[in-house]
Amino acid sequence: MIVLGLESSCDDTAAAVLEDGRELSSVVASQDLIHAPFGGVVPELAARNHLAQIIPVIELALDRAEIDIAGIDAVAATRGPGLLGCLLVALQTAKGIARSRGLPLVGVHHIEGHLLSTELDQPLPRPFLGMVVSGGHSALYLSEAEGRWKLLGETRDDAAGEAFDKAAKLLDLGYPGGRRIEALAREGDPATLVLPRPRVRSEAVDLSFSGLKTALWQRLRERPDLPPAGVAASFQAAVVETLVAAARRGLEKTGAGCLVVTGGVSANGALRAAMADLCRDVGVMLVVPPLARCTDNAAMIAFAGWRRLARGESDPLDIEPMPVWPLGR
Ligand code: KG4
Ligand code: ZN
Repeated sequence: MIVLGLESSCDDTAAAVLEDGRELSSVVASQDLIHAPFGGVVPELAARNHLAQIIPVIELALDRAEIDIAGIDAVAATRGPGLLGCLLVALQTAKGIARSRGLPLVGVHHIEGHLLSTELDQPLPRPFLGMVVSGGHSALYLSEAEGRWKLLGETRDDAAGEAFDKAAKLLDLGYPGGRRIEALAREGDPATLVLPRPRVRSEAVDLSFSGLKTALWQRLRERPDLPPAGVAASFQAAVVETLVAAARRGLEKTGAGCLVVTGGVSANGALRAAMADLCRDVGVMLVVPPLARCTDNAAMIAFAGWRRLARGESDPLDIEPMPVWPLGR
């Protein structure tokens, strides 16, 4: 079965073609340059740019897959969560294609897409613990059976990627900040700055990053002379340690034999190395996506849609986008 996947929930316009869950093509048009001057995503600009990009991105994905639109068997699009005006673009485009070609439509949960982004390469052993750390989300889920998610804990305030972006703003590194903090941190000493580790309820595996951001802001005001590389390294170490502690608690709590770490922040080399150490320590299998599938993409959406179709599920053509859409509560 050949599935066309579409994604436009935030600031990436993406299309991908999968054949029986195998990636034939995956195209992402990033809007980083458009939002960079504002230090964050401007929803109205994002939606307008999705409108301009979605058709060219689909055409490129079909070209690269060497497939005609007539060869598509189903269409999957992100239904939520995300920015309403942005979600509308991929979802309505998918509906138009499905309607005109008489194809099944699947509205995919963006977080389920992230959680399954590694399954394109290898089947995931269940139960697994899934940690999603992106610009908009930071949460831990337990997957005991396909299509069923149990939320174990989530951030009480900022997402991990948002924390990276805000720290980068304080250091004048530009947007998005995660990759820039990581690059700068490579030359710095993580002992430059003592930053707090958020205290969270261990039984709920919750996360919190706003205190860390405030502490960083205060320390930089007191000590503007600190070397930026050392500050970046100290900040990154605090985030990594917080995420590793939450993953450790989640593994202890669930007894899961596999940990999946995904979302934009899972591209971070220090986080990947620290999670590898944790998993070696506790004897658990670690699965992380290849770098191109850490951040938003449509291959993960097409894959999650294909799995739903395989379970006999699809959606009517009048589904609406879900800007807020809890998973596994
Ligand atoms: O998954 P994603 O593309 O979008 C959302 O669904 O939010 O994640 C984007 C986030 C941004 O906050 C970005 O700063 C962060 O992921 N990010 C990183 C790295 N690459 C991207 N954070 C830390 N280290 C990285 N290498
Ligand atoms: Zn995402």
